[in-house]
Amino acid sequence: MCPPAHFKVTYSINPWMDPAKPVDVPLAVAQWEDLRDRYRSLGHTVEELKPHPDLPDMVYAANGATVVDGRVLGASFMHPERQPEAAAHLEWFRANGFTEVHEPTHINEGEGDFAVTSSYVLAGRGFRASPLSHGEAQEVFGRPVIGLDLVDPRYYHLDTALAVLDDRADDVMYYPAAFSPGSQAALRRLFPDALIAEEPDAVALGLNAVSDGLHVLLPQAAVGLFEPLRERGYEPIGMDLGELLKGGGSVKCCTQELRDK
Ligand code: ARG
Repeated sequence: MCPPAHFKVTYSINPWMDPAKPVDVPLAVAQWEDLRDRYRSLGHTVEELKPHPDLPDMVYAANGATVVDGRVLGASFMHPERQPEAAAHLEWFRANGFTEVHEPTHINEGEGDFAVTSSYVLAGRGFRASPLSHGEAQEVFGRPVIGLDLVDPRYYHLDTALAVLDDRADDVMYYPAAFSPGSQAALRRLFPDALIAEEPDAVALGLNAVSDGLHVLLPQAAVGLFEPLRERGYEPIGMDLGELLKGGGSVKCCTQELRDK
């Protein structure tokens, strides 16, 4: 995770970002710390990346790389405003004992567009990641990569429209209308029992969630997801990341998962 010490919205690269809307940095920091501390109280280790004053979107650490079985695929950002973030992530991995670190050839924004289940890497495309990054991810991770077409600009990254709930049981939740008809059909075939989100919860970025297989941390405004999650045996934990929503991200965007071997 990367603290939002320098968070601001000065440019707009997704429909959520409005540079005219003020951002309350101390509040953003407090909300972010709440998420970090919640992970820690659940027994998870949280590593912190040093924020850079010229990179306001660095708080969305999920975009900086993807790690599966200890193998790291670095990011290559689509927009010039975010491109320097990639090097900061690579440097962190190299300094922290990761030996298999791959620099990408094609545009991919880390876990923004890559979601990992036990069987597959699900890979979004349409707004950010190059479809060519999908083959690259399959080569690096050795897992079948399933390409999914995103069609609604509000859900510009896969992690705004789909969340993995249990990566051992291949359980996911998603918002169908964010995907093309063919991708919706592919998702139904792969995950016939998935939790299907309704529009109000998707708009609250309720799919931008992180699950450890039991606890599901998600935006608290996505009230319609709590009961269905409980019925499936999960423990939903509502978080308020309202300031970070102004940049177009929430719980998952702020969290890169270090999947070791
Ligand atoms: N402002 C950032 C962007 O548009 C938000 C990224 C959100 N991160 C995510 N994993 N969806 O790139």
